[in-house]
Amino acid sequence: MKKLLIALSCVVFVLGIAIGSTVFAEMPGPDPDALWNHITKVSPYKEWSFWPDHQGMQPGRAPHGPLHKVYVNDQALNSSKPPLQYGAIEVKENYSPAKELKAITVMYKIKGYNPKDGDWFWVKYTPDGKAEKFGKPKGCIGCHGTRAKNDFVLIHEFK
Ligand code: HEC
Repeated sequence: MKKLLIALSCVVFVLGIAIGSTVFAEMPGPDPDALWNHITKVSPYKEWSFWPDHQGMQPGRAPHGPLHKVYVNDQALNSSKPPLQYGAIEVKENYSPAKELKAITVMYKIKGYNPKDGDWFWVKYTPDGKAEKFGKPKGCIGCHGTRAKNDFVLIHEFK
């Protein structure tokens, strides 16, 4: 009986590690290349959702493109009030008036990364995934920080 219990607890332990590593090890750290890999290969953002109040292509303002689409992952979508859950990612495709993709800007919520400004990791990518700006850029934070109470999110209003 004792042996069986020990064997069983080993199985549970190993299973726990296996499940834990598939669910958690997937989330990248504050690294633009790892994040790009995550949002294009591990969990392609084009398969994510839109905010219910911000579907598909929408007109936008400077400094972002005049047209955009904002995709959100489940951690963002399931956040019913600010702050968003850790692991939340918003991917914004920025288009020219002729609907050419010009840039991809991303906000990714990482626990402990930058507590004073909402723990967001910011990246601006070229359409093929080269990070032009990343980390805690003053520009991104300054402008989005006007809505710090909405957890720095501008296109979706939390009620
Ligand atoms: C001068 C103001 C300004 C700056 C600087 C700025 N943004 Fe934005 N951002 C906006 C506005 C306004 C929106 C709402 C959508 C739109 O009008 O394009 C937005 C929307 C977004 C969104 C969609 C989610 C949301 O919050 O609504 C992301 C992601 C984003 N910005 C990332 C960035 C990143 C990354 C940077 C820095 C490289 C940045 N932004 C710099 C004004 C700004």
